[in-house]
Amino acid sequence: LMPGTAPLEEILQHNPVGLILSGGPASVFEPGAPRADPRLWSLPIPILGICYGMQLMVQELGGVVRPGRREYGRAVLEHLSGRLFQGLGGETPCWMSHGDSAVALPQGFTATARTSDNPTAAIEGPQGRFGVQFHPEVTHTPRGRDILSNFLDVCGSDRSWTTGNIVETLIHDVHQQVGQGRVLLGISGGLDSSTLALLLHRALGKRVVAVFVDHGLLRQDEASEVIKALGQLGVNLVAVDAAAQFLKALAGVEDPEQKRKIIGAEFIKVFEAQAARLGPFDFLAQGTLYPDVIESAGGVGAANIKSHHNVGGLPERLGFRLLEPFRTLFKDEVREIAGVLGLPEEIRWRHPFPGPGLAIRIVGAVTPERLAILRASDRIFLEILRQRGWYQQVSQALAVLLPVRSVGVMGDQRTYAATIVLRAVTTEDFMTADWARLPHELLAEAADRIVREVKGVNRVVYDITSKPPATVEWE
Ligand code: XMP
Repeated sequence: LMPGTAPLEEILQHNPVGLILSGGPASVFEPGAPRADPRLWSLPIPILGICYGMQLMVQELGGVVRPGRREYGRAVLEHLSGRLFQGLGGETPCWMSHGDSAVALPQGFTATARTSDNPTAAIEGPQGRFGVQFHPEVTHTPRGRDILSNFLDVCGSDRSWTTGNIVETLIHDVHQQVGQGRVLLGISGGLDSSTLALLLHRALGKRVVAVFVDHGLLRQDEASEVIKALGQLGVNLVAVDAAAQFLKALAGVEDPEQKRKIIGAEFIKVFEAQAARLGPFDFLAQGTLYPDVIESAGGVGAANIKSHHNVGGLPERLGFRLLEPFRTLFKDEVREIAGVLGLPEEIRWRHPFPGPGLAIRIVGAVTPERLAILRASDRIFLEILRQRGWYQQVSQALAVLLPVRSVGVMGDQRTYAATIVLRAVTTEDFMTADWARLPHELLAEAADRIVREVKGVNRVVYDITSKPPATVEWE
């Protein structure tokens, strides 16, 4: 994966057997729109242009692109022909998202698919040049994988990117990079760092030490589950119970950003102390994924910026070299690798959980009593989601404790107690999210059990705001 504007020399270093030019937010008519190295078009290997990539190809090879004839959303590809659509039958649904279209094709090109609005939904030309106006890479194009697979056949590419091969390659690369060095890894209990712990354990055995800092802001049983699972798989794990230290530092703090800062600073203190105690180390391992790399590199057309850096600056302060074996992978690939390495299913499919933990789900000050209320409510909500088969259908689910008390009645008693918010969202990338349409019966059961079982709560509400304008978390 490299920027579409990379010079030819840089591209050729990778000995490509074919190239895919992806889509992007620009229009070929904008000044400064990204352009490929012009020498690329005469390379003797197949090239597939997707959306913007196709428009660029058409324009550069002498065809005509025009604005207008916009298509957004689902469309049906018809009159399929050519090598990209082999084995697909006569028509198939696809996902469109474009404003410009090809109105005249370069010499020697033919249209190989059309939609009701677009006679050039896909094109094929001489020397293995292909363009698709739709997006084969998204799940809304159900046969997209087959189309990409056909392109790989045209390229004569082998299919060596299997999970087993990735694991072997990653282990080999870690060996190369680390040599006889020692590695320190912080684990959070989430998918990425747990999987990384297993991978590094495979590659380096006892030369990697995984440190798990329990800041006391985790969910019920989360710490013990992870410690147990990784311990059973042989990982050299040091668990540090630092709950008292974190709670003391957070006492009386209500401001969300202040909470994050304090938690980040305490984390660094604990981690540095452990590094000194267990060291010396040569590397600090991090579970950085490809989307984080895109974000911080700001590649051409990469528009998503997020800034949740809980332990920013840690590697520099420790003076270790960074080891980031997952930096070319996406989350679903890490999840596959986790399966190969034997990570238990509960951890493999665990929703993401923020570094500052429950502290940013307690609106207002964090106290042991309020933590206990939130933890118990959260446990009930997640338990019900799992029981009713909804856990894996939502991207993230959580409970929030409000600083609001309201009047209720229980038995014959008037109550004046806290409010719990339940929130569940569906999302692809957490940059935007929709609230999950959970069944009313599920919500009713959760509200009923929380009010009955958790002392101090007499009201439960469900958050039906999307992101934007709200965020996933309440703080
Ligand atoms: P928001 O609330 O920004 O959340 O819509 C998007 C995703 O990011 C997670 N999140 C955090 N993760 N440190 C983290 O490691 C943080 O400070 C933080 N704040 C939000 C949130 O759980 C959701 O998955």
